Amino acid sequence: MSSFSTPLSRRLGLRYPIVAAPMFLISSKEMLLACAEAGILGCMPSINARTSEALKSDLQWLRSKTEKPFGINFTIGLSDPERLKIDVALCMEYKVPVLITSYGDPTPIVKAAHTQDMTVFHDVINLRHAKKAEAAGVDGIIGVSQGAGGHAGQVNPYVFIPYLKAQLKTPIIAAGCISGGEQVAAAFCLGAELAYMGTRFIAATECAASDGYKQCVVDSSHDDVVYTNQVSGIHANFLKKTIPDETSPTRGEESAKRWKDIWSAGQGVTQITAVKSIEQIVDDIAREYHDTLKRLGI
Ligand SMILES: Cc1cc2nc3c(=O)[nH]c(=O)nc-3n(C[C@H](O)[C@H](O)[C@H](O)COP(=O)(O)O)c2cc1C
Repeated sequence: MSSFSTPLSRRLGLRYPIVAAPMFLISSKEMLLACAEAGILGCMPSINARTSEALKSDLQWLRSKTEKPFGINFTIGLSDPERLKIDVALCMEYKVPVLITSYGDPTPIVKAAHTQDMTVFHDVINLRHAKKAEAAGVDGIIGVSQGAGGHAGQVNPYVFIPYLKAQLKTPIIAAGCISGGEQVAAAFCLGAELAYMGTRFIAATECAASDGYKQCVVDSSHDDVVYTNQVSGIHANFLKKTIPDETSPTRGEESAKRWKDIWSAGQGVTQITAVKSIEQIVDDIAREYHDTLKRLGI
């Protein structure tokens, strides 16, 4: 399938301007490698490695397998500060090409990363945080729109992405409900330079989600997704049928256990009809993208 690009994807050296977004507990080093081989940017939260030692060995493994870019995510305000410090230092040591920050001030990470020519993206659900991230010097701002998997925003992408684009000078990355090539094309029409996709990659063969979770994503539509703060205290989208009747918010370790049994996914489940390898998913998206442009006569 022929490649396509944007200024930001060319800067990162990607074949396609697509990111497999970090997903708590279920993105793995195997996914990152499969993404690198398929020509997109695969990312995982640093804490998906159970310890900093495990993260170090994941980084060594990835560095030994590929020269292509991959990304590590830090959920700053939700992480143990000591662990965060060690994990950031490890990412500097291994010159992880892309760092993705959320839930906190990215300034110290941006400063350190830019001394080594590493790229930092920051994820936001409103303009206030986007402006702070821009002032911190991040290289891309991820606009997490309504309907996204995980901790989603509340603004529709048709409004949020052009709004961020008009208000900021930093390149914009679109997140939320992008599951196929038509939606990738739409994200670029709205002004984004990368399509940031989580839910689509839950139903990837290489994803560490259980078979039941993957099948549930395939079988569900947007009607089966609920936006609630009753799982962790922060609003996020979940597959409705995995939420127990009696739920009250939890934090820390307890919250992590709940994310194992209560499955998060976005409204983009509607467009997902099969579990496929990452290579096949990327191939499908690229074909759908080119078909869309052809249909539009572009
Ligand atoms: C199961 C799951 C876990 C997630 N965990 C994280 C996380 O640990 N850190 C983070 O920054 N975003 C997390 N996200 C959000 C994704 O990185 C991304 O913003 C989102 O999935 C994009 O929307 P989409 O799912 O509609 O494609 C998670 C999303 C899902 C579905």
